[in-house]
Amino acid sequence: MPYPEIRPRRLRRNAAVRRLVSETRVDPAELVVPMFVKEGLTEPRAIASLPGVLQHSRDSLRKAAAEAVQAGVGGIMLFGVPATRDETGSGGVDPAGVLNTAIRDVIAEVGDSTVVMSDLCLDEFTSHGHCGLLTPDGGVDNDATLAAYADMAVAQAAAGVHVVGPSGMMDGQVGVVRKALDAAGHQDVSVLAYAVKYASAFYGPFRDAVESALEGDRRTYQQDPANLRESLREVELDVAEGADMVMVKPALPYLDVVSAVRAAVNVPVAAYQVSGEYAMVEAAAANGWIDRERVMLETLTSIRRAGAQIILTYWAVEAAQLLRERY
Ligand code: PBG
Repeated sequence: MPYPEIRPRRLRRNAAVRRLVSETRVDPAELVVPMFVKEGLTEPRAIASLPGVLQHSRDSLRKAAAEAVQAGVGGIMLFGVPATRDETGSGGVDPAGVLNTAIRDVIAEVGDSTVVMSDLCLDEFTSHGHCGLLTPDGGVDNDATLAAYADMAVAQAAAGVHVVGPSGMMDGQVGVVRKALDAAGHQDVSVLAYAVKYASAFYGPFRDAVESALEGDRRTYQQDPANLRESLREVELDVAEGADMVMVKPALPYLDVVSAVRAAVNVPVAAYQVSGEYAMVEAAAANGWIDRERVMLETLTSIRRAGAQIILTYWAVEAAQLLRERY
């Protein structure tokens, strides 16, 4: 070795020094757990393609929400699975619909002790499974859909939600939702914009979780995985329309996008580690091919390192518990 001997390994020699120089820590407060609630269930039900994740009943949802708070997670993102669906997704607006009921239940359970969020999209409620209303020729009608999102946002806010998450990728959705919330007196409800949402095959298990009726794909509204610059345009628009936070989705295959978005805007950046990302790890771990916990924490650390300050992950509760033991 030439002198002076520059040895980066000195800072890796033991756990204490590695801890001291660690550049990235995942904090439970930054993790958000997605939860599913299905109308009419009396017992929670397993989702085969998402091992460990449940379709909740009203009761089990409340208990799970309380446990999540206990574990210290930063938030809960709610998704509803209705018993019946129709062309216009009217169950999403109905104050007695499964999602609006779940919001009320969870708020009654946890109050302001964590951030309660709701998916603001029509796909779980429409009989055709698209994120919006259809035109006569079967396309998705952007502007008619916006009106439905405005009503849905107000219904969710009236149910007490803290943050709405418009995820349908309609043009102008953030502005319309912001305006509707403000007009209804819900200035305090935040918008977490799914600003960057790719038309990804990684959503497969989620579609099982919500029993999606979709045939075909969402490529006329969700983004082409090949594009990065387009994401920056989407983010810029959403921030201009009043997004309080922006999200990139999926996470791990799009860390370059997370990093570019982080550099481009000053609002908090979230990333959604989606169902397929989770299922891949669970499946490999079940086969004994990878170390489940280490891979879990490595993925979360990597997403954090790339610049996401908030991470939506199906591991949120377990990861929060593990991280609290660790630090
Ligand atoms: C739309 C929505 C989807 C996901 C979150 N919100 C599905 C889609 O766009 O097809 C996917 C989340 C996941 O895969 O974990 N309501």
